[in-house]
Amino acid sequence: MKPIINIISFLLIGTACTGQQDKNLKLCNVDSKYANKVDSVLKLMTLEEKIGQLNQYTGNAQATGPEVIDNTKHEQIKSGRVGSMLNVIGAATTREIQSFALQSRLGIPLLFGQDVIHGYRTVYPIPLGEAASFDLDLMERTARGAAIEASSEGIHWTFAPMVDITRDARWGRVMEGAGEDTWYGTKVGIARIKGFQGNDLADSNTILACAKHFAAYGACIAGKDYNTVDISDMTLHEVYLPPFKAAAQAGVATFMNSFNDINGIPATAHTGIQRDMLKGMWDFNGFTVSDWGSIREMVDHGYAADLKESANQAIIAGSDMDMESRAYVSHLRELVESGEVPITYVDDAVRRILLKKFQLGLFDDPYKYCNEENEKETVLSQPLRYLARESGKKSIVLLRNENKALPLKDDVKRIAVIGALADSKQDMLGFWASEGIAEEAVTLLQGLKNRYPDAKIDYVEGYDLNTNQLTSSAQARKIALAADVVILAVGERANESGEAKSLADININANQQQLVNDLKPYSKRLVTVIMGGRPMIFNELTGASDAILLTWWLGTEAGNAMADVISGDYNPSGKLPMTFPRHIGQIPIYYNYKSTGRPESKYSSYSCRYLDVDFEPAYCFGFGKSYTEFEISEPRVIGNNHSFDKPVEIEVTVKNTGIYKGKETVQLYIRDKVASVTRPIKEFKGFQQVELLPCEEKTVRFILQKEDFYFYNKDLDFISEPGEFDIMVGKSATELNPVTIYISESERN
Ligand code: BGC
Repeated sequence: MKPIINIISFLLIGTACTGQQDKNLKLCNVDSKYANKVDSVLKLMTLEEKIGQLNQYTGNAQATGPEVIDNTKHEQIKSGRVGSMLNVIGAATTREIQSFALQSRLGIPLLFGQDVIHGYRTVYPIPLGEAASFDLDLMERTARGAAIEASSEGIHWTFAPMVDITRDARWGRVMEGAGEDTWYGTKVGIARIKGFQGNDLADSNTILACAKHFAAYGACIAGKDYNTVDISDMTLHEVYLPPFKAAAQAGVATFMNSFNDINGIPATAHTGIQRDMLKGMWDFNGFTVSDWGSIREMVDHGYAADLKESANQAIIAGSDMDMESRAYVSHLRELVESGEVPITYVDDAVRRILLKKFQLGLFDDPYKYCNEENEKETVLSQPLRYLARESGKKSIVLLRNENKALPLKDDVKRIAVIGALADSKQDMLGFWASEGIAEEAVTLLQGLKNRYPDAKIDYVEGYDLNTNQLTSSAQARKIALAADVVILAVGERANESGEAKSLADININANQQQLVNDLKPYSKRLVTVIMGGRPMIFNELTGASDAILLTWWLGTEAGNAMADVISGDYNPSGKLPMTFPRHIGQIPIYYNYKSTGRPESKYSSYSCRYLDVDFEPAYCFGFGKSYTEFEISEPRVIGNNHSFDKPVEIEVTVKNTGIYKGKETVQLYIRDKVASVTRPIKEFKGFQQVELLPCEEKTVRFILQKEDFYFYNKDLDFISEPGEFDIMVGKSATELNPVTIYISESERN
């Protein structure tokens, strides 16, 4: 066993927050290009002005948390008491508010932040949906598109990507991330950061990204938003922290901390995680922002007696900017003057924020993002809409296709579209669609009309969008009977997933499922389109559906993207980034659980079933069908005498044995068979997308590096251990061919 990286275990105990910690403070290492500039500004600043830089208020656009009514914000900006605003939209408005900052004594420009989660005015699929594309380049391009559009409206900074790992589908915020897998979530996070930040923050169409929510927000107990997180240090390191560490290494400009407490310490006051780990060990030189009001909320957590104590704890722990708690602006001055908070902590936070303002070029031109001409040309431009359609169609997952019910041929004469979601513009955009405008979204109904101009398309609501009561049943049956195909839209509404939108029951509404069954006898072919922002349960409608397409929320071009897939213009290639349970009681359910001591016996907990339901999910991680068929060969290991000194290479042959051109995502998993701590039965470590014509075959090669075999041992050392490994390659987490190899420590062993 060879320790590679030692994680000091005190980190996670969460050291207490007092003014005594000055000697431990690791200062921001300002890039030499900007060091003199940052320091020369800092020298000019009064304590009050410094605290102002750490203060962020919401503007007049829709608030995204509990708001404090305050009519003095503009005056405060003019007197240098505000460093950043969120929820201020548009080139003209940001210009006006920026002009107030320039009237302050030092004229330090404001940073405008915004939740640009999945597009801006042009809306792309919700992040979980887009993660189903398994197309990192695409995710980088949509983040780039969102940055181009948002920056044209004066935005400098997005509070995205959310890199929380999510294993509990009840939690509404699963829609904002990349799903359940740490390795994949890390790759997606980096792609999105690259897209937002581009190659150079100084470009006028790049924006600061923000890795959130630091940390472990996704592990909230029972999927209840904002809830307590109580997990082992090993799980924290192994499952929840890697995407954040990778984000820091990839140069993400900012971090946002999280609402939850972690093993007793609120993340906002977590010195171990923020100060020691992020800014210390990971060398992060960007700045951290609190989540909305999370400094104030430490009083409700019962961790601070009052707002002053919260301010003290948060600044010492490394929370640089205070979003909407008003804790710093109200109390930091007295805390510094009394010596409770050393000024070095404040200075360090200010330097980090000034550095980003310099890097963005705001000191050279504070209005560089507020160009109304550019705004007009950029917003909802044709290239962005094309991108929305491309990302939409690539995010759709085909879950079922009996008797080749899909694709739907060009010569189809009559289509019945049923289900109110099929024509709900608002819902197409999905939750947290930034500046997206419902009227600009293409619905499923419209998309089908665009694609099949010669077909007769009848539409009936089928159920009430708000109450789910079935409506116009006779009419629905009538149009179903007359049609060649019924396309039935069901699922949850866009505002049923997202922040503060946890559900105790993720079953698709029973009436909607009943509708599918009711219409089955009247349908020649029944295609169910499921829309939603999280894994859902829909056992009752499965058997009645000839085909099932999972479309998530696809954004502005949703309907066109769905029609692309329904028609076969695009052969579906999406794969699930989260396991879909078959019963609510299976949650949390994910593919990479550990083996118990009784994996196969009558007394087993995992292999067979609960007393009342199977253990197996309805659809596993990585699952997704195509209109064509693929065969993947047994994995071939290149060479022998494997050691961690050199990469392990694995090959498979992939063949398209069906009749359509299509794309398969070939997936690789490993299992460390015996280790000094128990290891998961599978760990996702690689994927490649291969596009093949009918009868075509290609060889796909995976290269595994030593780091792919690393794990945290009981001392939280990040290590690899020699021994036997199963390497499994296939189409999903449960359709795999294995090969076993022995890997020694080095070639000499
Ligand atoms: C959310 C953050 C978001 C912030 C600002 C909070 O309620 O948790 O993810 O960035 O509001 O809108």
